[in-house]
Amino acid sequence: MSSAPVIRTQGLSHFFGDEASRAQVLFDLNVDIDPGSLVILTGPSGSGKTTLLTLMGAMRSVQQGQITILGKSLSGLQGAALTQMRRDIGFIFQMHNLFDSLTAMQNLIMATHMSDIPPDQARRNCQALLERLGLGHRIHHKPAALSGGQRQRVAVARALVNSPRLILADEPTAALDQKSGLEVVTMLREFAAQDGRAVVMVTHDNRIIGLADRIMNMVDGRIVSDVRVNVTVSLSLALRGIDLFARLSTAELTQVAEKMTARPFTDGEVFVRQGEDGDMFYLLQDGQAEVVIRENGQDRIAATLGPGQYFGERALITGETRNATVIGRGAGRIALLSKEEFQQALNLAPDLPEQLKRIYFGR
Ligand SMILES: Nc1ncnc2c1ncn2[C@@H]1O[C@H](COP(=O)(O)OP(=O)(O)OP(=O)(O)O)[C@@H](O)[C@H]1O
Ligand SMILES: [Mg+2]
Repeated sequence: MSSAPVIRTQGLSHFFGDEASRAQVLFDLNVDIDPGSLVILTGPSGSGKTTLLTLMGAMRSVQQGQITILGKSLSGLQGAALTQMRRDIGFIFQMHNLFDSLTAMQNLIMATHMSDIPPDQARRNCQALLERLGLGHRIHHKPAALSGGQRQRVAVARALVNSPRLILADEPTAALDQKSGLEVVTMLREFAAQDGRAVVMVTHDNRIIGLADRIMNMVDGRIVSDVRVNVTVSLSLALRGIDLFARLSTAELTQVAEKMTARPFTDGEVFVRQGEDGDMFYLLQDGQAEVVIRENGQDRIAATLGPGQYFGERALITGETRNATVIGRGAGRIALLSKEEFQQALNLAPDLPEQLKRIYFGR
């Protein structure tokens, strides 16, 4: 697999308006987006995020500087070559732009017409994607009969259906609740990890930032910070979102994150088993897990967990055996913290042990 950047901008500047009222909105941007990465672009309204994204997607002509996508320069690219290039890019816009007269399924199928995928296969891919995004029961509805979040998910499915090499997404989770937002970004995360693809995503959603490999902050047309997030940082961001650890300082969260080990898991892996003793705390970084409770000889799925969610704390706090079995669904990454480190982390917040007793023992 090549490690050449998926996107490279060199000295990229951009202007709006005619000569009298010409305003510069992007200033000399030099950015490389590495294969395999999920890059988050944040910044205040009007800072130039959408302008940069549309330039990277060959939706707007380059005025000054260079953009190279998948090794090809956009300068001078026209006609069929430009169309071919756009086929390798999936877009998810701030405002969904589905065809109102077509159903969800037809909107997706329409997008596959540009690809070489045989029609039967295309139809199956479309169906599977819509189901994966929780739209199985809405496949034959038109956009007007879908909620804002459902339309947004159709738009996400449409961007993924041809397996483009690059996805550019402008606030793809803005209209989504927490669960569907995480589902969408998890799909994008998995997508980025495959075969040297990349995702560049504009978002202000703090729940998602922990999933990024890199966070770029843009202000007034310039990249003012560009952080490659290492495992410790992404873990401490995820820990911060957990109520158990919310009272710890950034330095303390970093200490805890450093003690965690992260590893990939595969579909069906059992992390904890109901009735066994607890010796670990688990934080899902990527992928999903099902919480299964066996009662009166019957198994029941009590919850499905996504990235940033955790389990295994109860047995560590109460000393009781595991009250559920937790199984990995699909491929993902999990971070683990030993019982001893977990208890030390809790002890960092002085009054926490007392509060936990109240919560978990009801006293
Ligand atoms: N077609 C246009 N004509 C003139 N000015 C424009 C045009 N599109 C954007 N701008 C201006 O360029 C600047 C950058 O806009 P852009 O849409 O890239 O910002 P953004 O960071 O995506 O903001 P938001 O978070 O609100 O979506 C803004 O000042 C905007 O007013
Ligand atoms: Mg924008």
